[in-house]
This record gives sequence, C-alpha cells and structure tokens, in this order.
Amino acid sequence: MNDLESLRERAGKLREELTRHALLYYVEDAPEISDFQYDALMRELQDIEKANPELVTADSPTHRIGGAPREGFVKVTHEAPMMSLDNALNREELLSFYSRLQETMHTDSVEVLCEPKIDGLAVSLVYEDGLLMLGSTRGDGRTGEDVTANLRTIKTLPLRLKEGPAGRFEVRGEVCIDKKSFAALNAAREEKGESLFANPRNAAAGSLRTLDPRETAKRGLKIYLYQIVEPERFGVETQAAMLDRIVSLGLPMQGAQRLCRNISEVNAYLDEWENKRFEHPIDTDGVVVKLNDITLRPLFGTTAKAPKWAIAYKFPPEEKVTQLRAIEVTVGRTGVLTPTAVFDPVHLAGTVVRRAGLHNQDEIDRMDVRVGDFVRVHKAGEIIPEISGVDLSKRPAGAVPFRIPSECPVCGSAAVRLPGEAAVKCTNSACPAQMKERIIYFASRSAMDITGLGEKIIDQLVEKDMLHDYAGIYALNAEELASLDRMGMRSAQNLAGAIERSKQRPLGAVINALGISNIGEKTANDLAARYRSLRELERVSREEEEKLELADGIGPVLAKSLHAWFSEPHNQQLLSRLEAAGVNFYESGEETDRSSLPWHGLKFVLTGELSSMTRSEAGGKIRLMGGDTSESVSKKTDFVVVGSAPGSKYAKAVKLGVAILTEEEFLKKLNEAEQNNSPAAEVMK
Ligand code: IVH
Repeated sequence: MNDLESLRERAGKLREELTRHALLYYVEDAPEISDFQYDALMRELQDIEKANPELVTADSPTHRIGGAPREGFVKVTHEAPMMSLDNALNREELLSFYSRLQETMHTDSVEVLCEPKIDGLAVSLVYEDGLLMLGSTRGDGRTGEDVTANLRTIKTLPLRLKEGPAGRFEVRGEVCIDKKSFAALNAAREEKGESLFANPRNAAAGSLRTLDPRETAKRGLKIYLYQIVEPERFGVETQAAMLDRIVSLGLPMQGAQRLCRNISEVNAYLDEWENKRFEHPIDTDGVVVKLNDITLRPLFGTTAKAPKWAIAYKFPPEEKVTQLRAIEVTVGRTGVLTPTAVFDPVHLAGTVVRRAGLHNQDEIDRMDVRVGDFVRVHKAGEIIPEISGVDLSKRPAGAVPFRIPSECPVCGSAAVRLPGEAAVKCTNSACPAQMKERIIYFASRSAMDITGLGEKIIDQLVEKDMLHDYAGIYALNAEELASLDRMGMRSAQNLAGAIERSKQRPLGAVINALGISNIGEKTANDLAARYRSLRELERVSREEEEKLELADGIGPVLAKSLHAWFSEPHNQQLLSRLEAAGVNFYESGEETDRSSLPWHGLKFVLTGELSSMTRSEAGGKIRLMGGDTSESVSKKTDFVVVGSAPGSKYAKAVKLGVAILTEEEFLKKLNEAEQNNSPAAEVMK
C-alpha cells in the first residue's frame, strides 16, 4: 500500500471513530473517551486533510460543529449560525494564533480579551422588547432545539432585561452545572441505581435537554453570557464593552475576564488559571482568547466551523506519577472484560485517586503499560481518572507485558476478541457476572424501573439460586421475596408491586432493558418510535440486516448487534418468557390508536404447536393487529387457535362453544387483517 492509500485508510478510520464518539458525546451524553483524546483524534484528521486535500470527504466530521438535535424538542433555526472555536492544544499553537493577529493588523500590540472557557453547552437567547421569548441549544450550529421552558427554570436568568433594548436582542452563552451540584446529582443517581454523568458538561446537557422542565429545575444549572449577536446594532465595539453591556442588562456574566496587550500577558493569565481552575466553582477546560476590537473581526473571517479571531486554549490535563500495583479484570453486562489499573493513591484535581480504567487491549498495548510500571495519571474532564503514559526509564526489571486473559475470570469460559472489535468478551451468555450485571441494568431506572430491586437484593437472589436471568424476575412472588435477608413482608409486597407495574413500561425502556450491545436509552427510544413493536423490530433485525443498515440512524454496527442478539436462541427464550409474563412489547401512543386496528377488542387463546411460527410469535402478531391474548379460555374468549397436539384449552373451548380456528384459518384471517391494516388501506379509507 502506498503512503496516500494508508493515509486514506487512516482518515476513514478516524472519521468513523470521531462520528461514533460525537454521537456518544452529544446525543447519548455518555462519552467513552476524554475531550482531550477526542480533540487529538480530530486534530490528526484535520492535519491529514490539510496536507492532502484530495482525501477530504463531504461527510467528514471536520466540517461539523456539534451534535444532531434529538427528537422530542421543537427545532430552531439560528438566524446567525452558532459557531464553535478552534483549539490551541499547547502554548506554541496559541503563539501562532497571536502572531496571525499581529501580522494581519500590522501591529505588535494586539488587545485580546481572555476568559475561562466554561465546560458546558452553548445556548442562544432571544429577547423581544426586553422579554425572554426563546432559548435554544446550538445543535449542529444551524439548527438547535427549543429549550425555553427548561432555561426559564435557571434562577439567575432574567426573564425581563434591565433597560430592555427595544425589538429583537439575541445573546449567547453557556449553560453549566457547578462542581458541587454535579457531585450531589451523581451521588443521588448512584443511590437510585441510575447511570452516572461522566462530567459536568454531560450533566448540564442532560439536565437542560430533559423533556420535563421540573426535572431541569432540580439540577442547579447556571448560565453565563459572553456574546451579543449583531453588537454593532447596540453600539458595542469591543469584547470588553460587550461584557459590560451584558452586566448592565442584568444578565449573568462570569466576571473573570482580563484584557491582555501582548502574548506574555496572555501567558501570565493562563499560568494563573492553570491553578485557579481547581478552586473555581465551575468546571473550566481552558481559556478563550478573543480579539477585543469587534469592528476588526471581519478582517479575519471564519472557517466552516469557527471564527479566526478567537481561539480556545485547552489546559493540559494535570498529571501525577504513581506506581501501578495491579491490573484487575472485571466482567460487565455485555460480557466485556474490562481492565482497571490499581495504583498507589495520588491527589488529583481535588480527590484521592487509586484506580483508572484501561479501556481495552489496544489501549494497554499502545502505552505498553505493565504491572510495576510508574505511570502518569490525569483526570479527563477533571473527573475521570485516566493513565496517559508510562515512565519507561523507571520500569522494574522483569515487568511483563499485560494481556487480558483468554478465559473469563468469573466463569472460566473462553473469552475472545471478535474481528473488528476492541473488546475481549466472555462467550458464555449465562456467565454469572454478565447475568448479574444484566439483571441490575434491566431493573434500573432508565430500563424497567423496578424500585427496590437494587444490586444487593439481586446479589442475594442470584446467590440463593432464585434468579438466573432477568425474565425470571416475573416469576418471583411476594412470599419468595420475603424470604430474603432484611426483607419484611411489607417491602416484599412493595417490590412485587413494582415488578408488576414494570410490565407496563414503554417499549423504548423495554428495548433498553434487554441489554443489547450498542443500544442505550436514546437508541432504544428511536427504535421503539420507528418499529413500534418488539416483534417487528425482531423481524426486521433477523431478516433484513442490510435493510436495517440503510434506515436512518442505524449504522452497520447497530444492525449487526441487533441481528446477533435476536439470533441467539437463549435470547429468544428470554423474549418469549417476557412476552408470556405480559411485559409490554408495543409502543404506547398506539394505545389511543388501537381502536382503529382490525382486531381491536378481540380475545385470542393459543393452544398446541403451530407449524409456521411459535406461539409467542403468533401472540405478537395478534397484538400487532390490535387483539389480546390470554392463557385461559373463558366465555369472553373470541377465538381459540388450535395447533397440533392441543391441550385442555381445546376441550374447554368446545365445551363453552368458543369459535375455533385451525392454523390455516388463523393465517388466512391474519393475512386479511394485515392487508386491512396496511398503509395502502389507510389511503383508501
Ligand atoms: S466565545 C463564535 N467564550 O466553547 C463562538 N465560548 O469550544 C464564540 N465556550 O462554542 C464563543 N466558554 O460554546 C466563548 N468564555 C467563552 C466560552 C465559550 C465556553 C464554548 C462555546 C464555544 C465552545 C468552543
């Protein structure tokens, strides 16, 4: 392969990675890598594209500004695009930015305004005659989401401006969460068994973008404004004057800015903030340096995503050196063997750190990290401990390369790394470690939301052999639950009630609960909205992997995971048991429409074996057509579908005079119903 080809390949790989991480960051609010690592990948791609313009593609993430707006909010088109900023990852890059300002302006002393870069999410506010009318997120820079109701819950944000300017006034800034509220929020989530926010930025984004403003109000969000749109309309000519105007209008402003006249003053400000930021109540990940004179900014113009008159200097992460004592391997819910570094405690960004995730074998190999090594540790986003490298000069003699074991440390089954995947996975889907984690996830708030079924209770149930998988939850009764340690009859009844209620969880939550790899809360909700029933999702996943790949938002990775999950016989069995237990398999909202379905109000009972499908599949199809299924025959039953070797239900149906359908008759009726229910029939109505 020649150089260009290998660069093309590398650029393709980087685009794929960046797109995946952007989705995790902006849409799922669940990043897997630090901002610093993300910026480094982005930089590598930008460098390749700059040196080789022929390798630039139309869909390269280097052209994009932010995340796609998520469903559920009204979209807002920004009159002036909301741009991002280019980063300077070190002092040299900052110097070359400053030199460009000097060259263009033919002067040595260029005034720039510096202020801490808030690690939050950008919003734009529109005031009309002094009244707050609209607040929106940046989204992709052109189109964001209307989050006015949520923004109004931020106590420091004035709904009416002081000395309100007449007409339209647009101002931009950052919504964030202070470190204290962030810690309290995560502590509360941990208690409830909910997933934790990786960093304050994600917490702020998640809080601002909940569909329930009452929830936002509880999160202690803050907002700081830093930019007036079309400042010339208000006679504002410098960034410093802009900040003064923001304050005089009664809008919250950070107040940590400083005007600098040369690069040494800028560097002094950076030196100061590299320490101050740890005591600062809100999370900052750098300093923004902006040309103070607004009237001269048009000289510099913009790139596709950022103005050239400003730059964001990113702080290098604070690092400490410590000795690595062990690498522990644990097994997660999807069977992934996750290595964790355990080292001598160090103080970092305000807390004592003893452990850091090592992600996967590639990461371990890349750094060649070995037990006994002296490692550099930092906190990504000032929160998540990470190892950034090894001091090879101090490597003890005899230190050996670390390999993630090829046997599961919990069940001893083979653990393998599939081609194209970074993770080593335990191949035993009944592995107790995986199973326990999966049950915990199944019961958690964003999934089946079974209050009272926490980790400790699940531990006991699994240890006492009362629970082997999550479908087994629905076979537990209050008496059995009351036999657990520290569980009275009253709590057992409450728990049984919570289990019963969980059957009515919306389809998105049910899909999320299944624990399919690569499917989190957001993707699960998207799939629910699109396919409307679990059996329908199964059908397309099993039969049409390729078609699935083409559907919006479903990439090849997701299509593969869905296909693999539904093809696994053990999972099929889980599904059938959930369905038989009466867990909701349908998208609600259909509830209201169900009356228009062809079999609305009809009750079916299935008995005996069908040749063309399983009974639970048949049940799914009946419900899809609006009918109901039941386990026992009564006078209220409309049809009993009889397969080969039927049970006593057949005899009972005959006795009660209930209509009986053979498999053939059932299929014919089903076919007619499906025809009636097709979109074409809708048009003809
Ligand atoms: S000025 C044209 N000032 O950082 C955009 N941005 O990484 C001018 N940010 O998009 C932005 N603190 O969302 C500015 N003090 C600050 C900031 C700040 C945080 C955000 C902003 C921007 C992003 C770029």
